[in-house]
Amino acid sequence: MSDGDIRIHVNGQAVMVSAADTDMSLADYLHERLDLTGTKVGCGIGVCRACTVGTRYRPDALMEKTLACTTTVSALANQHVYTVESLAHGHRLSPLQQSFLENFAFQCGYCTPGFLMAATAMLDHLKEYRASVDQLDTIIDTWVGGNLCRCTGYVKYREAIFKVAQAQIKGGA
Ligand code: FES
Ligand code: FES
Repeated sequence: MSDGDIRIHVNGQAVMVSAADTDMSLADYLHERLDLTGTKVGCGIGVCRACTVGTRYRPDALMEKTLACTTTVSALANQHVYTVESLAHGHRLSPLQQSFLENFAFQCGYCTPGFLMAATAMLDHLKEYRASVDQLDTIIDTWVGGNLCRCTGYVKYREAIFKVAQAQIKGGA
């Protein structure tokens, strides 16, 4: 490791970032250096949230949502990044991905990774805070309400997320 190099963790793997790359946006770094192209860039200026990824400052912390287009790699030194590629295990989709499929939540799919990662972070927080089903609409608004979808699939996204969150609350997970 040379002067200025940093370490981040991406989907559970340690990644050494050379000093020359630390000012790259996380989105560019994921695409160009790690070949992880699931994170999509729409506006590139922090508005549409298509580029949302999950982050944790340590592995056992709750997942937060982070915009990969406006966050430099250096801002995530020693932190843990989770992209849409982290959700499925082999061919087994995560419950959220499965719900998106079953509820026809996406159309072109470009915004879908951002919705998935924002909702994944939301579900992580729900485990900790034990919200009631009555609060779910407000909680979904808080976590996912700012994500934009040019195909206007908002109702279906909400339904898909609501069902998984409801099952998680009722199951006490
Ligand atoms: S690409 Fe639009 S907020 Fe990042
Ligand atoms: S499904 Fe096309 S932009 Fe959202």
